[in-house]
Amino acid sequence: MNADAAYPPERFRADLARFLERFPGYEADGDFDALRASDYSRLDRHGHIYLDYTGGGLYAESQVREHHDMLAEGVFGNPHSHNPTSLAATHLVAEAREAVFGFFNADPVEYEVIFTPNASGALKLVGESYPFEAGSCYLMSFDNHNSVNGIREFARRGGADVVYVPVRKPELRLDEALVRRGLQQPAECQHRLFAYPAQSNFSGVQHPLEWIAEAHELGWDVLLDSAAFAPTNRLDLSVAKPDFVPLSFYKMFGYPTGIGALIARRSALAKLRRPWFAGGTITLASVQAGTHRLAEGAAGFEDGTVDYLGLPAVTLGLRHLDRVGIDVVHDRVSALAEWLLGEMTSLRHGNGAPMVRVFGPETMDRRGSTIAFYLLDPGGAVYDVYRIEELAGEQRISVRTGCFCNPGDGEVAHDITPQEMEECFSVPEAPVTLQHCQRLIEDTTGKVPNTIRASLGIASNFADVYRFVAFLADFRDRPVSALGLGA
Ligand SMILES: Cc1ncc(COP(=O)(O)O)c(C=O)c1O
Repeated sequence: MNADAAYPPERFRADLARFLERFPGYEADGDFDALRASDYSRLDRHGHIYLDYTGGGLYAESQVREHHDMLAEGVFGNPHSHNPTSLAATHLVAEAREAVFGFFNADPVEYEVIFTPNASGALKLVGESYPFEAGSCYLMSFDNHNSVNGIREFARRGGADVVYVPVRKPELRLDEALVRRGLQQPAECQHRLFAYPAQSNFSGVQHPLEWIAEAHELGWDVLLDSAAFAPTNRLDLSVAKPDFVPLSFYKMFGYPTGIGALIARRSALAKLRRPWFAGGTITLASVQAGTHRLAEGAAGFEDGTVDYLGLPAVTLGLRHLDRVGIDVVHDRVSALAEWLLGEMTSLRHGNGAPMVRVFGPETMDRRGSTIAFYLLDPGGAVYDVYRIEELAGEQRISVRTGCFCNPGDGEVAHDITPQEMEECFSVPEAPVTLQHCQRLIEDTTGKVPNTIRASLGIASNFADVYRFVAFLADFRDRPVSALGLGA
């Protein structure tokens, strides 16, 4: 395959000029090329087309340098003692917390910032501590990530009612009437938690943040999963006020990888009952008295020693994102995604058959820059997504395949019935894997429950999406049989 031959440089320049004319906001800040050259130069140096930002963001080279310089220069001990090296580390932790409050415009009087290993760690804190019991309710959307779905196990164990609101094809949006019905129905629920993603990590659909206030009116606590939303969208917690916001910082700015946060409203946090205590989470524990007192606020939820050397990298990452401007990033990736969606949905085989099927909205109306799709051959058969990923990899194009830990969107996108999913779990061999289940469904129903995902982020540029379209266009008129299966 030779994508460059199909798209020679003159054509690229002409298409870029047309793109810039159509999306004047793309270069609003004027110096993106300089940023890409200074902070993400490794992409072009090694010929990478990175299209997996929803999997993990990319760090600016300056973030790593600044972090390294700080570590090389300072002397830091375990925080929370009064010696100078410990105080220096305590200061770094406080600075990172301040930076998170500032970036999300969260009022420290109203919110707490709890550092966790990642978004899943933040979600587990909520799941294991929420007062799920008989008479409580856990309402969630179909398009949640598995780390939100997993909270249902805590809910069930406690005896709470667990209810899902389905997404609907073709856009994989939630039916607003069903959301409202779900919020209104269980009038007798004592504790009620409603969880949905600000942006689906599968379809890119963005749900209304106005649901938060509506849910509050009806007595719900709201968990807004912002892991896939925050890297390219402004989340202003002085406007939308969810109770629990899980985040992974590597998704926002690539580095560090082991730190996330739960931003939680103090009032909601007060409801949580921690199932245990650990070093750092108590004001006092006694062996002989057999009891303990949990520390108030964030401290009561940060088990053990926080990543005090990694946290300054969060401060630096947020500073970097602030310098570039989250609104600038948003406008730029939205322009690129709009162009990409338009190109992908117009690709046709010689017989006029579409080459791409997008799962989710085909326009930028209420969606982010994460695009789930698969490629079809001239007869409408689906190319093996693992083979596509392999071929993309040969051109150093990084896309993701699978179900992206978002089974609800995947099952609806591919019309998988509850019975078909149950079949996967009824097969006696263990373990039951995604590949195994996909194969079973494909063999018995002909459906191909697998997806490719391309997602854009802070360092994406027109050349990236252009090269990707050229890669896709190269499948024109090639039957599935000519391609074979991926590893
Ligand atoms: C929407 C969403 N929520 C939660 C997570 C979990 O993030 P992590 O694996 O960093 O804990 C992800 C990861 O892809 C995600 O996309």
